[in-house]
Amino acid sequence: PNIAVVAGGYSGEYAVSLRSASGILSWIDRSAFSPYLVVVEREGWYVHLEEGSEPIPVNKDDFSFLSPTGRIRFDYAFITVHGTPGENGLLQGYLDLVGVPYNTGGVLTEALTFSKYHCNRYLASFPHLRVADSVRLRQDMPQPSSHELVERLGLPLFAKPNAGGSSVATSRVDTEAELERAIREAFTECDEVLLERFIAGVEVTCGCYEAGGALHPLPVTEVVPKGAFFDFDAKYNGAVEEITPARISPEATALIQQLTSEIYRHIDARGIIRVDYIIEADGLPTLLEVNTTPGMTPTSFIPQQVAAAGLTMPKVLTSIIRERLP
Ligand code: DAL
Ligand code: MG
Repeated sequence: PNIAVVAGGYSGEYAVSLRSASGILSWIDRSAFSPYLVVVEREGWYVHLEEGSEPIPVNKDDFSFLSPTGRIRFDYAFITVHGTPGENGLLQGYLDLVGVPYNTGGVLTEALTFSKYHCNRYLASFPHLRVADSVRLRQDMPQPSSHELVERLGLPLFAKPNAGGSSVATSRVDTEAELERAIREAFTECDEVLLERFIAGVEVTCGCYEAGGALHPLPVTEVVPKGAFFDFDAKYNGAVEEITPARISPEATALIQQLTSEIYRHIDARGIIRVDYIIEADGLPTLLEVNTTPGMTPTSFIPQQVAAAGLTMPKVLTSIIRERLP
């Protein structure tokens, strides 16, 4: 089967997505599948056969392209776009229309989870799931004053694009005077901004995937940023210590894995997801967010967790692809 490894996208996570795609391309079992890199940009979608070769346009009518040896139609899409249009339901809707199966949740799952505000509201309605108190600002609506916002959420607080990832345009706000600039910056990435109460504690993250109808939560990773928080620099330039398995009790690990599996079912996820939490002083986790196309660069959390579980990425990817492509 021909697999489109779909990367790129329209957001600040474009470059991260290409790095995730190179991870996926290095792990896909080439004795079973023929993977192709498909880069999605506003200007067009192109297949890149090899480094430096002329990109070949994708025919969007049937999700195919003209290779030097004839037309190749993709049988499956492995989406590694972080952000729009791969993590918010747009590509999923397109693939549904052309009848091509893919690795992620469907349109509703992706649209819901890519709005941090709506997803956390939805998940907060289930027992045991605690989420951070937050306020959503819309660019087209009147906004409360900095003073009112600080009264409501306290300091420090976080300002982030409501629909975004990798901490792009995200800042920690320590004083009321800094808030306005932080909101303005977050609006550069998205027309909705999420302001979130600061949660003190130990940050952890847990991947989970489905294979053979069963959920497989992965070992938990502890995140110890060297800067003020787990920002872009920490995520991709090594300013962080990542410890897998996390230095937390077996009970805390089991709880995180249990919650992650429950969330997987609540949102009707597919493929690999990763859920981020802060374990607070009372020992209980507060949900930060759900990532439905988590980072897959060779140093990302998921490959680390897969290795810690004694599994290999090629095996995990094969079982995920086989879920929808027997
Ligand atoms: N948004 C990044 C890629 C992640 O969640 O892993
Ligand atoms: Mg994220």
